[in-house]
Amino acid sequence: MSLLAVRNVSKRFGGVNALADVTFAVEPGDVLGIIGPNGAGKTTLLNCVSGVVHPDTGDLRWEETSISRVPPYRRARLGIGRTFQIVRPFPSMTVRENTAMGALFGQPSGRLQPAAAIKQADEVLELVGLGEKRDYPVLRLTVPDRKRLEVARALAMRPRLLLLDEVMAGLNAVEVEQALEMIRRVRAGGITIVLIEHVMKVIVGVCTRALVLNFGRTLVEGPPAEVLRDRRVIEAYLGERYARDQGT
Ligand SMILES: Nc1ncnc2c1ncn2[C@@H]1O[C@H](COP(=O)(O)OP(=O)(O)OP(=O)(O)O)[C@@H](O)[C@H]1O
Ligand SMILES: [Mg+2]
Repeated sequence: MSLLAVRNVSKRFGGVNALADVTFAVEPGDVLGIIGPNGAGKTTLLNCVSGVVHPDTGDLRWEETSISRVPPYRRARLGIGRTFQIVRPFPSMTVRENTAMGALFGQPSGRLQPAAAIKQADEVLELVGLGEKRDYPVLRLTVPDRKRLEVARALAMRPRLLLLDEVMAGLNAVEVEQALEMIRRVRAGGITIVLIEHVMKVIVGVCTRALVLNFGRTLVEGPPAEVLRDRRVIEAYLGERYARDQGT
C-alpha cells in the first residue's frame, strides 16, 4: 500500500498551468526527490499534498483514503509534516520554543503537555544539529540554521511523511554534507521523505527516486542517476540557464 498517491492533479493560477495532470506514488521508506526549473510547479505540488493549495482536479490519497477534502491541520495530524521555502519562525521566541510549537501543532489540543513538547523539541534539535543553539532567539540564527530550524519544527510533529522544500538552498559544501547526514538519520528513524532540491548532489546522494517537473508536467521519473542523464532533463535545465544568461 502506497503511503501517498497523487492522481491526475492539476492546478491553474490565472493563465498559468502550475500543475498539469501530475500522478505519482510515494512508498514507505522512499526518499523522493522533486526537481525542475524555477516555476515548474514543485512548491505548488507540496502545497497540494499538505493541503495549503486545493487542486482544481485530481485526487490525493493517504494510505488509500482520499484526503483531498481534509484541511491542512488534520493532514499534519495524519502524519504529513512540511517545511516552507520561505521560512517564517515566530520572531520573539527561542529556537527551542519555536520547535516546541511544531510539536504542539502536531497533536490534538491538550494532548501534549508543554513539558513533553519541550522534550520532543530537544530531541529533534539534536538531530538537526541545533542542540547547542536551542536557547538562541531565532533572529540570531544564520540562514542555514533557520533552514535547520524549519526541519526541526516539522520533525517535532513526528510526521510519517516529511516534505522538504529546498532546505539546502544557500548552504556551502560542508553544510550540504551535514544536511545529507541529517536526512539519512531522519530516514533511518523510519520517516518517508519527499524533497525539492536544486542541488543535484543531494538528489544522487540520498534519493531513492527522482521526479522531474517541467511547466507543471511530469517530464521523467525514475532512479536519480538515470533521470539526471536523461536528455529531456538536461534540456529543461540548460534551456532555463540559457534564458537566465540572456537576462530574461
Ligand atoms: N499563489 C499563487 N498565485 C499565482 N500564481 C502562483 C501561485 N503560486 C504559484 N504560482 C505560479 O505557479 C507556477 C509554479 O510555481 P511554484 O512556486 O510551484 O514553482 P517552483 O517549481 O516551486 O519554483 P521555484 O524553483 O522558483 O521555487 C509559477 O508560474 C508561479 O508563478
Ligand atoms: Mg518552489
